[in-house]
Amino acid sequence: MNIPKENFSEWYNEIIKEAKLCDLRYNLKGFVVIPPNAAQVMKIMYRIYEEALEKKGHKPTYFPALIPERNLKAESEHVAGFVPEVFWVTKAGTADLEEPMAMRPTSETAMYPMFALWINGKSDLPLKIYQSCQVWRHETKATKPFIRTREFYWIEAHDVFATEEEALMQVREDMETTEEILHQRFGIPFIFFKRPQWDKFAGAVDTYAADTLMPDGKTLQLPSTHMLGQNFSKAFNVRYMNEDGSYTFGWQTCYGPAISRIYAALFSMHGDNKGLVYPFEMAPVQVIIIPIMKKDTEAEVRKKVEELKQRYPTTQALTLPVLWLAQEQFGYISEETMKYVATLLNVPFGHVLGVVSFYTMFHRKRVGKHHIEVCTNVSCMLRGSAEIAKRLERKLGIQMGETSQDNKWTLSEVECMGSCGSAPMVAIGEEYYENLSVDKLDK
Ligand code: FES
Repeated sequence: MNIPKENFSEWYNEIIKEAKLCDLRYNLKGFVVIPPNAAQVMKIMYRIYEEALEKKGHKPTYFPALIPERNLKAESEHVAGFVPEVFWVTKAGTADLEEPMAMRPTSETAMYPMFALWINGKSDLPLKIYQSCQVWRHETKATKPFIRTREFYWIEAHDVFATEEEALMQVREDMETTEEILHQRFGIPFIFFKRPQWDKFAGAVDTYAADTLMPDGKTLQLPSTHMLGQNFSKAFNVRYMNEDGSYTFGWQTCYGPAISRIYAALFSMHGDNKGLVYPFEMAPVQVIIIPIMKKDTEAEVRKKVEELKQRYPTTQALTLPVLWLAQEQFGYISEETMKYVATLLNVPFGHVLGVVSFYTMFHRKRVGKHHIEVCTNVSCMLRGSAEIAKRLERKLGIQMGETSQDNKWTLSEVECMGSCGSAPMVAIGEEYYENLSVDKLDK
């Protein structure tokens, strides 16, 4: 990192670029691509959140991403709050749709008409569901990766209760869940604030939002939980029948942890002047085992590499013999070894990976004392290599690609080994066994 964290705004942009957390080159303003480096961590965050919600009685669901216009307009405050930032789908192919459809900015108006169908009596309550999904909002303020984009990733939990007290208890439970996850597991401190009426969720009675302090001293709003009261249940007819035949509207809450935004807080809190830092549990790579050569052999290996350099015209061409040396040292080629070879020869990692993947003589996993390679290419296949492979699997009690528990045998399927004239053939280490048959194998 070239920019110290004190200059947080520039540091934020630099870490995103250097650690490849987000690709901003997607050609749609306000939309970004989240590559594996960040997506893997977000997936872990999703898993932790989903497990916690399910432990507290929420069930997973998936609702459509498109919401009919009439649903969105059913609750007047909600529509006033959300319509300015809704993306509308108005065409299918070249034809205009009869009714515009909103791309969900949040799912109350998709879910609650269904809740009205699902809830009849008190025994259907409480109803506690969640979904993990994307939502779309046409942000007009300047967008910032993970913090404010026009598409973001979140979980939304929606609950219905028979009484106001139960709904208020759920709001408290949402705050506790936030503490258990955000603070205790993600290491992100926050304080819940009750929002003033002008700043509450559109359609809610009250909103409680967790604010954290970012390294530049600015607040960032993280999950919020909303007491919806009976506002939506009245609009969508979410009610249950009492014993005397009368109806009571359900008391509702909703809770929305935005995973992409929490991820921004995660790497902003923990990252430092050297780059990314994650809590151990969140790190997609927690431990790297670096192969270190034995002291007395390191000099020897380096000498061999120097000798090889004289014989090969380019460092790219050197890759194969150097990998072979590495395999002799470690017994197999791990990802870390490939990285080491790439650095040693100053060639791209992709080139080293390509060589290892192409040549079957390189082992990606540790192999047993005796490595049996069965050629299954055309000539060997036509002359019975499949039967030989099956017999070996049965005899050794392992499948192709496996190593026996005592580490004695490894069985591999390989491409042509250049002995097609005496097919079928099998190699054990350096030895070739040719013109084989199942009978010969048994002997
Ligand atoms: S096909 Fe098996 S050695 Fe060539």
